[in-house]
Amino acid sequence: MDSFSKLKVTECETPIVTVDLDIMERNIRREQDYFDGLGLKFRPHVKTHKIPELTRLQLEAGAAGICCQKLSEAEVMADEAGATDIFIPYNIVGPKKIQRLAGLLERPGLVMTVGADSLDAALAANEAGRLAGRSVGVMIECDTGGKRAGLSSTEAVLELALEIKRQCEMVDLVGLFTFPTELTQTPAFFSEAAKKLEDNGIVPRMFSGGGTPIQWQVGGLPYITEHRAGTYIFNDKNTLGAGACTVDDCAMRVICTVVSRPSETRAIIDGGSKVFSSDPWLTGPAEAKYTFGLVLEYPEAVLAAFSEEHGTLDLSKCTERPKIGEQLTIIPNHCCTTTNMHDQIYGVRDGEIVREFKIAARGKVW
Ligand SMILES: Cc1ncc(COP(=O)(O)O)c(C=O)c1O
Repeated sequence: MDSFSKLKVTECETPIVTVDLDIMERNIRREQDYFDGLGLKFRPHVKTHKIPELTRLQLEAGAAGICCQKLSEAEVMADEAGATDIFIPYNIVGPKKIQRLAGLLERPGLVMTVGADSLDAALAANEAGRLAGRSVGVMIECDTGGKRAGLSSTEAVLELALEIKRQCEMVDLVGLFTFPTELTQTPAFFSEAAKKLEDNGIVPRMFSGGGTPIQWQVGGLPYITEHRAGTYIFNDKNTLGAGACTVDDCAMRVICTVVSRPSETRAIIDGGSKVFSSDPWLTGPAEAKYTFGLVLEYPEAVLAAFSEEHGTLDLSKCTERPKIGEQLTIIPNHCCTTTNMHDQIYGVRDGEIVREFKIAARGKVW
């Protein structure tokens, strides 16, 4: 866009990604107040926005530190957001990664913690600590139902913790983490693991869970001391489908224009998979899994297919139908992957674009 200052969203060139700043600021405040009220530490996951200024807002609101999913994201946030406490809930694997973790550890005043679900990953963290001459925090990743990475038995957690104590002198074993928090399995797993560890003289200081969809239900869960959430800052159609927010809490809106009406029941918009990403709607009805966003002006329209630069709207259920040239406001399925498709996001207040945010950690996935 040539000039964004004081431009009405309705006048802007599309496709663009906007964030309603009033909604976003309210989301940040409400989230922090909620976790403060529960007595839990809150650690925002900045992979959702990848924007240093927004990290600063989250820290100023009272966050205990931040979460970055990859080393490169952490490097940006350490350099540009002044983050001083970063947790990377990811296994650090390979000599180049070890050197880069050591590079982060060498920054004065930066507390670094990484995830590990194997002795290999713990030894890699240890090696980074040795290179930097400084200890590195490690959280053991537990699979408490999410079936991604993580150890799925408390015996395996104990075994890894004992090996870390034996072999990793530069590792500070901070505690355990999981993703996403499962309401019954997570506390059960954490309490069983804690007992086994304590019986062996290891006392974890942190039990960290995560996820926006589950966040309003984690109050009072035994053993959890910290929550990590990212999506909450913008929210999206997946958060809506999970019942964890309302449309009024969705700060991210993708603005597209109808560029073709090939038939009575079909409209084509100027945004496809390179604008939205192709992430499915995981929290909706199974038959709607591969539909791609909520069109606010035409809620019955179904964003039924993407090619790279085209989005296909099925209008068969609409009584009113958009014309060529009409602008549409769309809540994407997954705001985190939408962010990563763009160099910038536009901040909006009262329907006017008031500023541009550079997505400084865009593409920082290594
Ligand atoms: C390890 C980890 N923690 C926390 C989060 C934040 O979850 P959400 O985006 O649902 O808030 C994620 C999301 O992918 C994650 O992978």
